[in-house]
Amino acid sequence: MEDQYFISQPYGKTLDKGSISTQSPSNIALIKYWGKHGNQLPQNASLSFTLSESYTQTTLFFEPKTNREFRFEVYLDEKHQPDFEPKILQFFERIEKYVPFITDYAFRIHTHNSFPHSSGIASSASGMSALALCLVELQKQMDDIKNTENYYLQKASFLARLGSGSACRSIEGPVVVWGKHPAVAGSSDLYGCVLKEKIHPVFTDYRDTILLVDQDQKEVSSSQGHSLMQGHPFAEVRFSQASQNLHKLLDVLQVGDVSGFIEIIESEALTLHAMMMTSIPYFILMKPNTLEIIKRIWDFRRETGSSVCFTLDAGANVHVLFPEREKETVGNFIKEELADFCQNRKFIVDSVGLGAFIKS
Ligand code: DP6
Repeated sequence: MEDQYFISQPYGKTLDKGSISTQSPSNIALIKYWGKHGNQLPQNASLSFTLSESYTQTTLFFEPKTNREFRFEVYLDEKHQPDFEPKILQFFERIEKYVPFITDYAFRIHTHNSFPHSSGIASSASGMSALALCLVELQKQMDDIKNTENYYLQKASFLARLGSGSACRSIEGPVVVWGKHPAVAGSSDLYGCVLKEKIHPVFTDYRDTILLVDQDQKEVSSSQGHSLMQGHPFAEVRFSQASQNLHKLLDVLQVGDVSGFIEIIESEALTLHAMMMTSIPYFILMKPNTLEIIKRIWDFRRETGSSVCFTLDAGANVHVLFPEREKETVGNFIKEELADFCQNRKFIVDSVGLGAFIKS
């Protein structure tokens, strides 16, 4: 499939003034996307758990206008945020070809995150997917002929990808693959697709507690990190390793092999950070407390036989993953031991979820 598939057909009507509200969650990659090319295309396929409690709610107010310029304002918790606007402008410029009606309206974009803005949790995945879903819904309301259910969700994911790569994995759940992979039927570099194979029940309600180790602005953005994979000495090996890990993880998810899961997930997290440490310029996003938490998770696992494990995104925070059946024991371990290593003892309790939706 080519990206032309997502170019919107001529649409019949312009809507009167109105609004559309959506809610979209964040997601946590188990197989990491790190390295891209072309127009937001991934160098390797990635796989994630969609989350449920860490989400963005967006209301898109629209009003018809006549000139062909982009017109929009962004508000976070009712406060105007001009500093968010360059990123949205870049998003609109990238997607105009696919949703040309965006210049027919003046927009006000109101957003609210369920997690604190300064928590170090990337709001781009939930934020961009929530906005992308608003735009596809707007298209649907203008021209409902082409919008079959599949097209609708694929296009929402396609647009979200152009805002932020990982955002395309937030439209659906519980497990989403983005990037063409021979073992995943229907997978594409253009959008995320739900893993259709049966997933063992142990993984469909997995827990993810996000330990907020460092809530400051990251020194190196994800976009900079991705670009450092160009010409990286280990790039090719890394991309093929990711593909092999994804293949292995598919089996693990189907049979419910929690030990196999731990090995792949922790190795992916550490490899992601190893790529950062071995690029030129090199950088380290983990903090001393990140390492202390990892060590304590390993000790706890050895001492208790627990299935708890960790993953990391491009920052110092630690995602603690564990089966629902361990929520009491691991919950206590987090409160009593790991919270000491979080900034202001803060953490977010989350679990696997089903993706974005329109709010009535
Ligand atoms: C480490 O999706 O934030 O979280 O496409 O430049 O917006 P852009 O990057 P982004 O990168 C996410 C990187 C990651 C791994 C992952 O989510 O797969």
